[in-house]
Amino acid sequence: MPAALPRIHERPMPAIRDNIVEVRGLSKFYGGFQALKEIDLDFPEGELISLLGPSGCGKTTLLKMIAGLLEPSAGQVFVKGKAVTGPGPERAFVFQDFALMPWATVLRNVAFGLELRGTPKAERHETARRYIAEVGLAGFEERYPHELSGGMRQRVGLARALAVNADVLLMDEPFSAVDEQTRRKFQEDLLHLRRVQRKTFIFVTHSIEEAVYVSDRIVLLSRRPGRVSRIIEPDIPRDGTPDEIRRDRRYLDTVEDIWDGLKQFVD
Ligand SMILES: Nc1ncnc2c1ncn2[C@@H]1O[C@H](COP(=O)(O)OP(=O)(O)O)[C@@H](O)[C@H]1O
Ligand SMILES: [Mg+2]
Repeated sequence: MPAALPRIHERPMPAIRDNIVEVRGLSKFYGGFQALKEIDLDFPEGELISLLGPSGCGKTTLLKMIAGLLEPSAGQVFVKGKAVTGPGPERAFVFQDFALMPWATVLRNVAFGLELRGTPKAERHETARRYIAEVGLAGFEERYPHELSGGMRQRVGLARALAVNADVLLMDEPFSAVDEQTRRKFQEDLLHLRRVQRKTFIFVTHSIEEAVYVSDRIVLLSRRPGRVSRIIEPDIPRDGTPDEIRRDRRYLDTVEDIWDGLKQFVD
C-alpha cells in the first residue's frame, strides 16, 4: 500500500506557546480619568513576565483586573481561555504590603487561602508547613507578623500565595518594602521558584534592573493613559553567579536600552 500523503493537520505545526492569560482590548477609567487604554497582551504559561513602568502608569490596575479584583471599563481578561469575572483558584495575588492578618500566626496566615477554600485543618496545615519551609521560615510557624522583619513578612505572603497552588502568581511590587540586600535575595528565590515550580509569574516592578534580572519577558508600559509601549525578551546569561550576570554586557545593554526608552516619562 502506498504511503499516505500527510494530511494538512499532520504537518509539523509551528511552535505555538500556550498562553495561560490573555488580555484583550482592556481599558480602565476611574471616573473621567483613563488609567489604561486598549491593552492587548499574551502571557505564555510557565514564564515570568514583568510589568514595568513609571509610577501611575497603571501596573496595579492591570494586575488587579487580571486578578479579577477590579472590573475593566472595556475589554476582557481570559485565563485558560475562560473570561474572568472575578477572583479564581488558578490565580493568587501577592500584595505590595503583604496583607497579612496581624492577629494570626505565620501558620494560619499561610494556610488562610486554603481555609477559605474549606480545606480540612490537618491538610491545610501540612501544606502550609511545606511552603513555610520552602521560603526558608521553618521554625517560625507560631510567630506573629509583628515579630518578623519586613523581609520575613514578605516570605509569609509568598508562602501563602504558593500554598493555594495557583497556576498564576500575581505579584505587585512584592520587593519594594525591603532593603536592597533582602531584595536581591528574593530575586534569587523568585528565580529558584520559577525553575522548580511550573507556574506563571506576572510580576510588577518599577525597577528596570530587577525586571531585566528576573524576567523572561518585560512589558514596558507608558502612562497617561497607560499603554503597552514595548515588549522586551531579555537575552541575558542565566548560568553565572548573580554578580557575573549583573556585570555581563548583555545585561547592562538591556538595562540601558530600556532606560533610554523610559527617560521620556521622567517628569
Ligand atoms: N481607585 C482609584 N481611583 C481613582 N484613580 C485611581 C484609582 N486607582 C488608581 N488610580 C489612578 O490610576 C493611575 C494608575 O494607577 P496604578 O494602577 O496604581 O499605577 P501604578 O501601579 O503603575 O503606580 C494613577 O494615575 C492613579 O492615580
Ligand atoms: Mg502600583
